[in-house]
Amino acid sequence: MAHSNRVDRYAVVGNPVAHSLSPRIHAEFARATGEALEYQAIEIAADAFAAGIAELQQQGFRGLNITVPFKREAWELCNSLSPRARIAGAVNTLCLQPDGTIHGDNTDGVGLVRDLIDNLKIEIKQRNILVLGAGGAVRGVLEPLLALSPARITLANRSVDKAQALALDFAGFGEIEVVAYNQITRGGYHLIINATAAGLSNQIPPVSAAVLEKTGVCYDMMYNLKAPTAFVEWSIANGMKRSHDGLGMLVEQAAEAFHLWRGVRPATGLLLSSLRST
Ligand code: ATR
Repeated sequence: MAHSNRVDRYAVVGNPVAHSLSPRIHAEFARATGEALEYQAIEIAADAFAAGIAELQQQGFRGLNITVPFKREAWELCNSLSPRARIAGAVNTLCLQPDGTIHGDNTDGVGLVRDLIDNLKIEIKQRNILVLGAGGAVRGVLEPLLALSPARITLANRSVDKAQALALDFAGFGEIEVVAYNQITRGGYHLIINATAAGLSNQIPPVSAAVLEKTGVCYDMMYNLKAPTAFVEWSIANGMKRSHDGLGMLVEQAAEAFHLWRGVRPATGLLLSSLRST
């Protein structure tokens, strides 16, 4: 039954999702912009995504954020896609329309780019970027990164085949080179982005610390409010001066989703610093 008399409802859907910061972020955006909405975290069983989404549609939810491991499945479920979601092949934001159709968007790429460029002032144009990983997280950010005209993006992954397939898919957007981890024997990158899921189990990708020599900045797409992520900790311990986690990306992708749903763009700077200080 639709809850038409309630405030508009939104949620982040994933598995696991209990520790997501998204409810806190969207509650703060709603407060700051004066928008009346509720936002919660909902876990769906790994093998029951489509049924779970149908149930939330039934309940009258207006929009959903999609997180691990459902971004690809969500893409397949959409009736329409934004151009950037079509290119990414994965969605992190759904609009559940009144006519029962689902529109999908991907705000991860713009979230990463806003954090790198606006918040952290990291130059991408004509620089060499190393991206670790070749899963859904990379799919979402490759085209927006290539749109910033780096000299080249090097992709490293345990499964080299997977990285090669990804490089082929995105070849039209810029230069992508694929390497195995053991082929990386020196650094000199302007930026290294960890987009692997290794951090979920508190691990780091199997890359030599030599990659950090003469490298400018490290960025981990994972975040952890309580302690540095495994990748940030490893890079700092091996001499990196600048290493950032993905909290800024999380807040920026959320702001873009909020804008899509409500037509209002919340400010992110104060929220980001208050999250960092908690
Ligand atoms: P996501 O959507 O989060 O990217 P995914 O599509 O399952 O999830 O991809 C996970 C990525 O993290 C892959 O690049 C995976 O490497 P493989 O393709 O070689 O499996 C990478 N990954 C996961 N655990 C890792 C680990 N312990 N070390 C290195 N890479 C890891």
